[in-house]
Amino acid sequence: MATTVSTFLEKKKRGEKIVILTAYDYITAKLLDEAGVDGILVGDSLAMVALGYPSTLQVSMEEMIHHTKAVVRGAKEAMVIFDMPFLSYQVSTERAVLNAGRALKETGCCAVKLEGGVEQAEKIKAITGAGIPVMAHIGLQPQSVNLYGGYRLRGKGEERERILEDAKAVEEAGAFAVVLEKIPSDLAKEITESLTIPTIGIGAGPYCDGQVLVFHDLVGLFTDFKPKFVKRYAQLGEIAKEAVREFIKEVNSGKFPDKEHSY
Ligand code: KIV
Repeated sequence: MATTVSTFLEKKKRGEKIVILTAYDYITAKLLDEAGVDGILVGDSLAMVALGYPSTLQVSMEEMIHHTKAVVRGAKEAMVIFDMPFLSYQVSTERAVLNAGRALKETGCCAVKLEGGVEQAEKIKAITGAGIPVMAHIGLQPQSVNLYGGYRLRGKGEERERILEDAKAVEEAGAFAVVLEKIPSDLAKEITESLTIPTIGIGAGPYCDGQVLVFHDLVGLFTDFKPKFVKRYAQLGEIAKEAVREFIKEVNSGKFPDKEHSY
């Protein structure tokens, strides 16, 4: 049965973990879906991982829509979540609802994700009011990298209280789940225990209701940098490079194509 927002809430109630990975194309989405993830996030990490931009700020609505359509075609069971790109929701509530609606209408995804807590609560309320499920994203917010001066750990010292307020605000605004990025484990635990909606951690320790990672980090395909919270489960980049080197060798030596691969 296809995963929905209710599945996420039921999983939290039953104490079962929620697993989400990113995908930006059909074949990756199909692979993740067949492996059994609960959700597929078309993250704005698309900008850096698949499009080679220097940060997530450069990716457009059009590019996000183009890739999400491909992901939706590959996902049969997993819930597809569209990451709202920079400036698609910050400017006004009206623009936020229109862009979230456009994402759902044009791609066939199930939900949207946006960064921000207290300051984005009004938009979350309006988008969910239009019938569009919203996953919030607090703690480290990569779209605000210039405001905070980097990708450092959030929620230490007086920031802790602010993040607790953000968590409360997004739940009250109607978010069905909240991503907690790069915050101390004990803060993530406190948030997870105080909310009825599931928390999805990335660099937020083991006490969250679920975990999300960038697929290309997990399998060693994206190696430009590696945050501490990334665990590599495979080295697919190395395996692919080795296969390509072998192909080059065989073409040069005339070993490929052989009889078996010719007509
Ligand atoms: O863009 C992204 O990939 C994200 C993370 C939460 C994985 O927002």
